[in-house]
Amino acid sequence: MRAKVTKAIFPVAGLGTRFLPATKSVPKEIMTLVDRPLIQYAIDEARAAGIKEFIFVTSRGKSALEDYFDHAQQLESELRKKGKTELLEILKETNMDSGEIAYVRQHKALGLGHAVWCARRLIHNEPFAVILPDDVIAAEKPCLQQMVEAYAETGGSMVAAMEVPPEKASAYGVLDVQEDMGSVVSVKGMVEKPAPEAAPSNLAVIGRYILNPHVLKALNKKETGAGGEIQLTDAIAKEIGTERGVYGFRFRGQRFDCGSKAGFLQATVSFGLSRDDLKDELMAYLQEVIALDKAAQ
Ligand code: UTP
Repeated sequence: MRAKVTKAIFPVAGLGTRFLPATKSVPKEIMTLVDRPLIQYAIDEARAAGIKEFIFVTSRGKSALEDYFDHAQQLESELRKKGKTELLEILKETNMDSGEIAYVRQHKALGLGHAVWCARRLIHNEPFAVILPDDVIAAEKPCLQQMVEAYAETGGSMVAAMEVPPEKASAYGVLDVQEDMGSVVSVKGMVEKPAPEAAPSNLAVIGRYILNPHVLKALNKKETGAGGEIQLTDAIAKEIGTERGVYGFRFRGQRFDCGSKAGFLQATVSFGLSRDDLKDELMAYLQEVIALDKAAQ
């Protein structure tokens, strides 16, 4: 039987320069879509997929992130006194049991591959998930859950993949597809941030992975790739052609790139519109903005 995926690594040690000056003191992952921080969406998705151990790779200045998962004793007792049971329920989602969560420090932002490698001693000989919280995915069935189900069939290593137009491919790792089986594709190559004419397909890798522990061995070599960073994609690519193999998974859902300002704003609007308590007011405002814009043209 295939080993279950019960551990997830959340690399959150990046500098978040695209959100400066906010990220000077607020970790990007604590920034909120409506009223929940990005990290909460990631944790919920991991839980739905059966993850039991949550490993954060953090860096200096991320203490707000660690505090977020603590019990807020004083706040909770105040809410209890005031009979605010609904708010107490909401707070419950943020609590983690002792031992469920671990923090590892990445001392220097040397790249995503390096961040994952920093968690190596907490992963034994078992498959593990990697979730990038700035990729937020709205889906009926959470993306990682879809992947865990597909992985039960394929084994190996699996990356979430999404179709992108050719001019956007150079912002991603891109898959060279060996066999297209529908939602799953087998992979014969991966190129990190290819020039538009060099992209082997329109299937781009986004921030969800299920990885075989052999990937950590490849990361041990600490080879730098695109942008002078230690790239996770390069280490996964070393698994191609092994008996384990690499698969791409076309997830069902809408992905928002919340690492970029435009993506973050789009997600804010979309998540706002999906909320019963906000939808009407927000929609009316958007219609007003569009009407004003049209009138001004
Ligand atoms: P990004 O490429 O979005 O980088 O990292 P960033 O530093 O977060 O943001 P910008 O580009 O400066 O605005 C993708 C993911 O990998 C993590 C980030 O925290 C983010 O979740 N990461 C990246 C690390 O943990 N360590 C690194 O050295 C690099």
